[in-house]
Amino acid sequence: MSYVLQTEGLTKTYKKTKVVDQVSLTVRSGDIYGFVGKNGAGKTTFIRTVLGLTRPSGGTYRFFDGMALNDARRKVGSLIEGPALYRNMTARENIELYATMLQVDKGRSLMLLQTVGLADTGKKRVGDFSLGMKQRLGIAMALVGDPDLLILDEPINGLDPKGIVEIRELLLTLHQQGKTIFLSSHLLGELEKVATRYGIIANGHMVEEITAEELQRVCVARTVIKTNDPLKAAVVASRFLQTGEVTVEGDRLLIAGTLDNIGALTNALFAENIVVSGISSDDNRAEEYFIRKMEEG
Ligand SMILES: Nc1ncnc2c1ncn2[C@@H]1O[C@H](COP(=O)(O)OP(=O)(O)O)[C@@H](O)[C@H]1O
Ligand SMILES: [Mg+2]
Repeated sequence: MSYVLQTEGLTKTYKKTKVVDQVSLTVRSGDIYGFVGKNGAGKTTFIRTVLGLTRPSGGTYRFFDGMALNDARRKVGSLIEGPALYRNMTARENIELYATMLQVDKGRSLMLLQTVGLADTGKKRVGDFSLGMKQRLGIAMALVGDPDLLILDEPINGLDPKGIVEIRELLLTLHQQGKTIFLSSHLLGELEKVATRYGIIANGHMVEEITAEELQRVCVARTVIKTNDPLKAAVVASRFLQTGEVTVEGDRLLIAGTLDNIGALTNALFAENIVVSGISSDDNRAEEYFIRKMEEG
């Protein structure tokens, strides 16, 4: 299969404003596709459009190498902006009711609850669930039809750190089980830990599509050294490390990559009477990269 979802020039206009503007993207089988953009960038509108909840104003979208849309929709599970759940029912009752509505097998409900870590919630009513539990139940609901593609709109929005970790682990489990996942987020750091490919959207425009490997290549980690004399330190460090990849930014020395001989380097700096007041590794560069791209867009 060459693609799971492909859009070409997809556009959605509300009152003459192009909320989604000529978005072309490709989700391939096995991707965890991170759709990144600030609030208001057009992520939800894009998702609602490909799910058929609203009509595109222009452009096209296709699933699974152009499979007939009615068949394709049965192989897509989704969760948009918080799940529609019955508060007075248990997790299992919610799933079974939804399975009945979709006319699919109800027998998978326990297995689905196990997958999302809710198997032990028994008689507890969904109204008493935490936000994280509701979100995981929402993902279980999206899985009811045993879809090949899961589309999740901001699945970690509003969750506490523990809830975020749980969703992240769940996504990785589902990915291992062979699901292709498309998820949107404005929380870059969290996407970075799971995505295999990214699409960056700003003001309705696709700014860039980039694979996780490409992102790693452009965002290699840096070692940051704070000193009292950064210019002299740069000269000493370049000579010591035999690399030209040393730059100065304020009172900081930035060296590409993480160093395994950091002790020897600080000794060399001390020997030249340079005072080192701090050393850290700067591995947050992907986030900077996304922010820059979104600003450019
Ligand atoms: N039904 C609608 N009618 C008019 N404007 C809308 C509608 N839905 C979304 N918008 C506008 O489209 C823009 C993008 O919204 P949205 O797709 O929700 O962005 P995101 O999900 O990235 O935060 C926003 O400016 C929003 O106000
Ligand atoms: Mg949204």
